[in-house]
Amino acid sequence: MKGFATRINTVEEYYFSAKLREVNQMIADGKPVINLGIGSPDRAPDRTVIDALKSTVEHPQAHGYQSYQGIPELRIAMAGFYSREYGVILNPGKEILPLLGSKEGIMHISMAFLNPGDQVLIPNPGYPTYSSVTNLAQAEPIYYDLDLLRKGKPNLEALEQLDLSRVKLMWINYPHMPTGAPGSREILTELVAFAQKHQIVLINDNPYSHILNPEPLSILAIPGANEVALELNSLSKTFNMPGWRVGMLCGRADWVEAVLKVKSNMDSGMFLGLQKGAIAALNLGKNWFSDQNEIYDNRRKLIWKLAEKLELSYDPKATGLFVWCKMPEGKSAEELVDWMLYEKNIFITPGKIFGSQGENYVRFSLCMPEFKILEAINRIK
Ligand SMILES: Cc1ncc(COP(=O)(O)O)c(C=O)c1O
Repeated sequence: MKGFATRINTVEEYYFSAKLREVNQMIADGKPVINLGIGSPDRAPDRTVIDALKSTVEHPQAHGYQSYQGIPELRIAMAGFYSREYGVILNPGKEILPLLGSKEGIMHISMAFLNPGDQVLIPNPGYPTYSSVTNLAQAEPIYYDLDLLRKGKPNLEALEQLDLSRVKLMWINYPHMPTGAPGSREILTELVAFAQKHQIVLINDNPYSHILNPEPLSILAIPGANEVALELNSLSKTFNMPGWRVGMLCGRADWVEAVLKVKSNMDSGMFLGLQKGAIAALNLGKNWFSDQNEIYDNRRKLIWKLAEKLELSYDPKATGLFVWCKMPEGKSAEELVDWMLYEKNIFITPGKIFGSQGENYVRFSLCMPEFKILEAINRIK
């Protein structure tokens, strides 16, 4: 054996992959761990979604390989969702590619667009997969900061000072994880102009648009975006289906086709039952969103209480599935995370896994029922 590929040295095992092994071992050892770390919705999908999956399983024809682009009804349901929720009209034949979760889309897009040595703009803090995939593609991450007082606006003036000639892609993520910064139409409009000026492919990763966010927005609703932008979306958080692995890539036909060229060499379609369930989810009415948000809103109030007990500060206007909290001056986030886990059996996420700007922060997930959050509050004296 002549060694692993050098690219493997550019990444580490995903934080949660390793950390959850430890947390699960603690649980197996009898420790009553409350997991406020990961954003995996704990509630079930709608009944109609489960029924659609179940009834498909009974069909003998349901078990064969599926289309690489998903069945037409799934793409039509995705187009319907974009039209109803964001006012964006997409051609379901050409401008939508169903994915096995949006996370894999980050890799496929990078494989389709990046050559070794290209540069990629990545938010700091941000979802760690943007940088690890960039590294795996042997491209170079260039981090940009977000101004949280301005709804998470990137400092474009600072970016304009850089030599952007090698920048091929820019990842944006509104509403933003982990900070909960909502973004805005104005910010997206400025980003589209920036991408046009510098010939950069702009990708909005949009899995949190419907979680505690009064104004769901797609970058594809911005004039001119269909020339320079793509969008990733996901059923994981919006419809409580993270384990189903259903997401989508939307945008201009020739770019979606390039991504399909990569993806169709990597997997062989999505199980039909999952596609049928996804269609049922995408067709749910407004009540689905308001019901879920009421639950998350109540949980968030309790997480705020927990944060206050720990003397952490947070932005009550933030959106999304998490509460992003700043440490008091001079206190270490890592020490708090360890103390919470090993002394109080409460798992929370250290902000530094999202980048250097997350150093003095911790992240709480809203994916725990109220009684568990109350128990966590009671454990903090
Ligand atoms: C910002 C962001 N993008 C993408 C994903 C991946 O979502 P999925 O692959 O489940 O669609 C996540 C999951 O936590 C996320 O936080």
